[in-house]
Amino acid sequence: MTALQENRVTRHAGPDHLVLSEHPVFRHFWYVVCSVDDLTTEPEPGRRGVAPLHRRVLGTDLVVWRPDPAGPVSVAHDRCAHRDAPLSMGWVTGCHLVCAYHGWEWDADGTTKRIPQFPDSPHPTKSGLTMVASAERYGLVWVCLATEAEGGPVAGIPEVAEWDDPAWRRVPEGSWDFDCTAMHLVENNIDPGHVAFVHRNSFGNPDNPELTDQNVERRPYGLVTWTDVPVEGRPGEDGATVRHTWSQVHLPFFMHLLIRYPDGLGHVMLKAITPVDDRSCVIHQVVLRTDTEADRPAADIRAFDHQVELEDKDLLDRLPDEFPLAQHLNAHAKADRNSLLLRRMYTELVTGQWTPGASQ
Ligand code: FES
Ligand SMILES: [Fe+2]
Repeated sequence: MTALQENRVTRHAGPDHLVLSEHPVFRHFWYVVCSVDDLTTEPEPGRRGVAPLHRRVLGTDLVVWRPDPAGPVSVAHDRCAHRDAPLSMGWVTGCHLVCAYHGWEWDADGTTKRIPQFPDSPHPTKSGLTMVASAERYGLVWVCLATEAEGGPVAGIPEVAEWDDPAWRRVPEGSWDFDCTAMHLVENNIDPGHVAFVHRNSFGNPDNPELTDQNVERRPYGLVTWTDVPVEGRPGEDGATVRHTWSQVHLPFFMHLLIRYPDGLGHVMLKAITPVDDRSCVIHQVVLRTDTEADRPAADIRAFDHQVELEDKDLLDRLPDEFPLAQHLNAHAKADRNSLLLRRMYTELVTGQWTPGASQ
């Protein structure tokens, strides 16, 4: 080992790059698969019932459906035990999920209820679905891939104090697909230096890139960073102002961004990033605001954020497929303190040096 390599080992005890599929720990967190509104209850023409959804989390294909319109959501691995058909090609009828290949049926818990070819014969022991833990919070459907036998989730779905506070109205925004790692998208969202440049056609100004301060600290859930970012406008409004921003990253991929403007307006962004596989992710976003629909229509807020997400996507989709953890792989300047702590905490997560709720 060279002196340079030895030095690197002492400064960075972990993998150089983060590849999600190499680390089972990521299966132990909650991720969003869809909004509750994505789960239609209307039968689809051409199917014999309501269409379930196909989703992918950490390279695992899932089927998501609501067996009973008044009941909770169900999630299972998207593969039929009979002949491996994707269950998401089937339909939901009479509170049962039906496979499109040979019509086997299961209830909300994944128990086999019907094998139509010989309905009176016993059901094979392995015919049930492989269920996945699911929950509904913030108008979103969450899943955790780790089974109870594997230890289940290591952290709860993050608490959002503003969600039940009547001072805040809710603006669901939908989702955007990114051809980049989930880590790249988190890093981008806590990177105050990119705003002036990537968002030069919306709220950034390359002639006004200077930052006045930047603070970042560890928290039991991950990290928090706070800073002031000069911007050229806010949703539906032109005119330079300053965003006082507090950004929480609940490791690995959930963010709670609180923005306060000088006139007191509060704007929270819930950003739930789901790793689809090693190279792509999807962000589900919900905004909470202290103003009213009359003050600023939700349509303006959605249109603004749609443009902003596409500006980030345009750049992030072109980044390398692997996310660097080791410090020597990039150059870092003063504005990169957030990113450096994030990379260090991902390293600690995959090497077992940090777990959610651990003291700092
Ligand atoms: S493959 Fe699903 S019922 Fe045969
Ligand atoms: Fe951005």
